[in-house]
Amino acid sequence: MGDVVRVGLLGCGNVGAAVARMLHEHGDEIARRAGTAIEVTRVAVRELDKPRDVPVPAGLFTDDPYDVVRDRDVDVVVEVMGGIEPARSLILEAFRQGKPVVTANKELLATLSRELFESAAAGRVDLLYEAAVGGGIPLIRPLREHLAGDRIMRFMGIVNGTTNYILTRMTEDGWSLGQALADAQRLGFAEADPSADLEGHDAAAKAAILASIAFDLRVAAGDVYREGIMAITPDDIRFAKQLGYVVKLLAIAEGDGHEVSVRVHPAMIPAGHPLASVRESFNAVFIEGERVGPLMLYGRGAGGDPTATSSGGARSLIGHADHPGVPSELAPRRLKPIEEMQAQYYMLMRVADRPGVLAAIALVFAEHMVSIKSVWQEGHAEEAQIVLITHQARERALQACVRDLRLIDTVKAVSSVVRVEAAGP
Ligand SMILES: NC(=O)c1ccc[n+]([C@@H]2O[C@H](COP(=O)([O-])OP(=O)(O)OC[C@H]3O[C@@H](n4cnc5c(N)ncnc54)[C@H](OP(=O)(O)O)[C@@H]3O)[C@@H](O)[C@H]2O)c1
Repeated sequence: MGDVVRVGLLGCGNVGAAVARMLHEHGDEIARRAGTAIEVTRVAVRELDKPRDVPVPAGLFTDDPYDVVRDRDVDVVVEVMGGIEPARSLILEAFRQGKPVVTANKELLATLSRELFESAAAGRVDLLYEAAVGGGIPLIRPLREHLAGDRIMRFMGIVNGTTNYILTRMTEDGWSLGQALADAQRLGFAEADPSADLEGHDAAAKAAILASIAFDLRVAAGDVYREGIMAITPDDIRFAKQLGYVVKLLAIAEGDGHEVSVRVHPAMIPAGHPLASVRESFNAVFIEGERVGPLMLYGRGAGGDPTATSSGGARSLIGHADHPGVPSELAPRRLKPIEEMQAQYYMLMRVADRPGVLAAIALVFAEHMVSIKSVWQEGHAEEAQIVLITHQARERALQACVRDLRLIDTVKAVSSVVRVEAAGP
């Protein structure tokens, strides 16, 4: 590599255009800090005619992305086009050409990481992916490098800005999920088809990527237990508040020497927990290391400019020589099935307001050895709502409770079951 690092961009949308602008506008500082200039020499897009506000001469654009990866004037490929194909084949071709790749593509990394890392290793080049999780928040490098000497016991992350925005509106303004979603779409935080966010797919892909690094384990998005926020109601939010909790969609991974559990689901966390104050569309990951203790990384998890700092940061583009992209030896640890996991649970039931209902419910919990921490009843004429929080219980036992509670004729519905995290014993 010469005095200039020449960057080929695959994609010039939100992130790609922001990378090009950042490299142009901060060129002098970047050159001073990195010790070398970095410039964009080739850009692939789908539509050449689309007007673009980027400081890149028109002659550098192409609609054939292979022109970029095979161009002799490209030293580093930055993949910001998204999707599985042709991004996968282009990255593999870049490796064959001996070029390192920087990607923001969580979908690809969370499904095909083995193939990508093995090909990078075979080509003796790096695959860097700081921008794939948490947008502008430095997460990958701190986990892989800063915390390499520690043992991570657990992380809990708010890694999807859309659902965090929706839950914030439901909590602070009392809105329904539908109202909050419509507002998120109006503001451009949510896609026209918001299912990847609402159903937790986006968070599961990010959980898989982070868990793979934190626990030296190759986790794919499909391995992650996943529940989205669609079932969360204003009642759950209201009761959470009354009980001193906040509802968040969390990506959680925790492990010991033998097993790792990776999951995405809505959870109640104590209102005083640092993650409870992560509002609006912000993201944060709360890490618990054996030696470092609690640590939280917080910032903007999406948006062109924040994400560009991760995918176009000078160190990402030139720092690969001292930053091997291939994960180290994988420890033979088992992925723990969700049924074996332990948590506290919040449950909301609609019951007939008659004597003996509580006793019947308590009996079901006792039969499954699930101990109740607190119960609370709100009555309306014929019907009451029972809210309860359990002590730590196994998921399998809890699910058996729910099944048997539904068989009691005075229990009209088990309306919600939400895990309670980080609440202490
Ligand atoms: N946006 C964010 O906040 C954010 C945050 C973190 C990670 N990411 C990730 O970053 C990546 C890019 O996201 P984005 O929001 O920038 O997407 P985007 O705005 O849709 O941009 C995609 C770009 O790729 C180009 N492209 C797509 N398919 C192509 C093909 N077959 N050949 C040539 N060019 C092609 C598009 O060309 P045209 O312009 O001609 O359509 C466009 O310039 C995704 O993997 C995303 O998950 C995004």
